[in-house]
Amino acid sequence: MASGLRLAFFFFFFLGLCCWGTSASSSRQQKLKVKNHLKRLNKPAIKTIESPDGDIIDCVHIRHQPAFDHPFLKDHKIQTRPSYHPGGGIYDEDKTGKAESEVRNERVTQLWHTNGKCPEDTIPIRRTKEEDVLRASSIKRYGKKHHKTVPQPPRSADPGLTNTGGHQHAIAFVDGEKYYGAKATINVWEPKVEDPNEFSLSQIWVLGGSFGGDLNSIEAGWQVSPDLYGDNNTRLFTYWTSDAYQATGCYNLLCSGFIQINGEIAMGASISPVSAYRNPQYDISILVWKDPSQGHWWMQFADGYVMGYWPSFLFTYLGDSASMIEWGGEIVNVGSQGQHTSTQMGSGHFPEEGFGKSSYFRNIQVVDGSNELKSPGRLGTFTERPGCYDVRTGTSGDWGHYFYYGGPGRNHKCP
Ligand SMILES: *[C@@H]1O[C@H](CO)[C@@H](O)[C@H](O)[C@H]1NC(C)=O
Repeated sequence: MASGLRLAFFFFFFLGLCCWGTSASSSRQQKLKVKNHLKRLNKPAIKTIESPDGDIIDCVHIRHQPAFDHPFLKDHKIQTRPSYHPGGGIYDEDKTGKAESEVRNERVTQLWHTNGKCPEDTIPIRRTKEEDVLRASSIKRYGKKHHKTVPQPPRSADPGLTNTGGHQHAIAFVDGEKYYGAKATINVWEPKVEDPNEFSLSQIWVLGGSFGGDLNSIEAGWQVSPDLYGDNNTRLFTYWTSDAYQATGCYNLLCSGFIQINGEIAMGASISPVSAYRNPQYDISILVWKDPSQGHWWMQFADGYVMGYWPSFLFTYLGDSASMIEWGGEIVNVGSQGQHTSTQMGSGHFPEEGFGKSSYFRNIQVVDGSNELKSPGRLGTFTERPGCYDVRTGTSGDWGHYFYYGGPGRNHKCP
């Protein structure tokens, strides 16, 4: 009996040895690679909070965040606050809550707040799960944009776009000067995304250089991206690159670069509430600006959450100033079966429908050469296919420069 068992044991042992050599070993290697990547991304947590949407939020000591894996940041002294803020104050700024009476004053926050707070000296980081990495085309591409589909917004001089890799935009923009920041209050929706490989986002782009291989970009706003997050929730996000989305940069804190100082808001976490058609409207303000003394690019979310900064050394052109600012929406159209996708941009409704139905950016401003927030002047607009997604600008007393944007994708004007 015992020897039979031993025989069986050896049999399976050698069977095991023989077969690890082939496909099993490469899948084991893959597993190990994913595990190591997760270990690099997910820093040890001092406290962990489960969000109702399934996210896990790790409260990580501020000195242990991913930024400090960067060799240039080894001895970096964290700036605990910007030395300059274009709005004047920091924490009592933006009472532009002169919003229309219809806009709810209720604060837009993050879902995970219902289940706890991060302790002092820690920052909340959305934990990357194994399935998040496995959804990416490769471990290396996880958290990065696919550079074949660089959002290539138009220059005013050459509006004809060539290959956008299925990306479509409806944006307003300014160029022709040096810019030191940008601000807007962005209506928050949860657009329907038809295909898991598509996304729908609304954001500010702060761009430096021309649209060559060394384009610098800082981006912030909200997005729905099933590929990146595994669900259809509306999430706060940032992105940066200093080489047109090739080797540098990433979303949120998914690589070293951005230094977060805020202990209350997690990049990539869901924001709520979101607006609904003919129902209460919610919006978030986003400000990105360059600190004139340190040169770092700072970001502020909503009224007074100073999120942190991108150190100046990450960039080339943006080390000096931005040459173009854009505001608006972007979607990806994978367009299967020769039809346009029905992925929505903004609310999924066209600009002509107006407030409560179409999505908006309001109180659009730029930071000028004297580091003041000012009117952007004349806004250019661009959309590849106005029958799919459109944009319409305006000005008013309360809303300053604003625009409505977006659309439903597939419809009779967008077959
Ligand atoms: C996201 O939305 C798509 C399209 O509406 C749907 O097919 C899919 O099941 C949703 N995914 C999740 C995780 O809810």
